Amino acid sequence: MIRPEGVCVRVPASTANLGPGFDTLGMALSLYSWIGMKASDETVIRLYGSEMEGIPTDKKNLVYQVAQMVFREAGIHLPELEISMYSDIPLTRGLGSSASAIVGALYAANALIGSPLSEARLFDMATAIEDHPDNVGASLFGGLITAIWDGEHADYIRMQPHEDLEVLVVIPEFQLSTSEARKVLPDKISRKDAVYNISRSSLLVAALCQGRLDLISRAMSDRLHQPYRAELVPGMAEILDHAAEHGALGIALSGAGPTLLALAHRRSGRKEELEAYLLNTMKAEGIRASVRWLKPSSEGARLLGSMPSGSLLEMIEGEIHT
Ligand code: HSE
Repeated sequence: MIRPEGVCVRVPASTANLGPGFDTLGMALSLYSWIGMKASDETVIRLYGSEMEGIPTDKKNLVYQVAQMVFREAGIHLPELEISMYSDIPLTRGLGSSASAIVGALYAANALIGSPLSEARLFDMATAIEDHPDNVGASLFGGLITAIWDGEHADYIRMQPHEDLEVLVVIPEFQLSTSEARKVLPDKISRKDAVYNISRSSLLVAALCQGRLDLISRAMSDRLHQPYRAELVPGMAEILDHAAEHGALGIALSGAGPTLLALAHRRSGRKEELEAYLLNTMKAEGIRASVRWLKPSSEGARLLGSMPSGSLLEMIEGEIHT
C-alpha cells in the first residue's frame, strides 16, 4: 500500500568506534537530517542547506538510489519520486552524514510503501551499503549500538547511554573521506594490540551503560586505528593525550575523522575550558574548526508524518541549527 500523501522522516547523526570499538560501536547524536519522499509523475529532488552543496539532484542521488533498492526488494515499481532533504550534519567529517542519508532513504522508502521490510532487514541493507554497521546502526536505532556484520547479516544490541553524558565535537573545516582514512591502516596487527582493543572496547560498553564515568577515559584508548590516523588530523595526537586533563571524561576520533569527540559530564564545571583547549590546539596547528555541544540521541530514525505540502524547511523550522 503506497501512502499517497508521502512521508517525512528524521534521522540522527552518529559517531562510530568511540575509540577502541572500530567498526562495531556507534552512538546516535542530537544533530539531524530530514527527508521527505512521495510518489510522483516525474523525479524532482530538492536539497536545502549549506551541507547539501555538490550533491546530485537527479537519479544519481544516493537517497533516490537507496529508495529504489527498497522498492526492488519489496517487488514494487516506483521509478519517479519527489524527494526533499535538509541536513544539519556536516559532510565527510566523521559524523555519519552518509549513514544518515542511507538510513533516511531506507526508512522513508519503506514507510512510503507501508513498511513491508522489517527494521532488521533495513539494518542489513544499510550495513551492506556502508560496509560497517556502526554508523548506520546508531542512526537507525538511536542510542548506543554494538553490532557485528558477517557480510550478509548484522546482529546488534541497542543500549541507552548514561543520562549524565554529553558530547563535545570539534569539527575541523577540512573534509576527510572514510576511504582515505582507511588506507592508512595496517592489514595486520599484533596479538598484544588486539587484546588491548578487545579489553577496552568491552570495558567501555559496560562503563557507558552503567555510568562508570570514572573508567571511560582509560577504556576509550585504541591501538587499532587512531595511532595511524593521527597523521591525517593535525592536533589529534596532542588532544588524545591531554583532553582528559582539561575536563573530558573520554576522547576519541569520531568515526574516520577528522572530527574529534569528547565525552563530558552534563554538570561539568569545565565545559568552557574543554572547548577552549580543543579549539586552541587545532588553531595552533593552523586548523580552523568549530565546536558543538551535543547529546546522545535516544531516538533513531523516526517517521514524522506526511511529506510537507509546502517547503520542508517551513515544516522543520525551529528544530534546525542553521
Ligand atoms: N568504523 C569506520 C571507520 C567508521 O573508522 O573507518 C567510518 O564511518
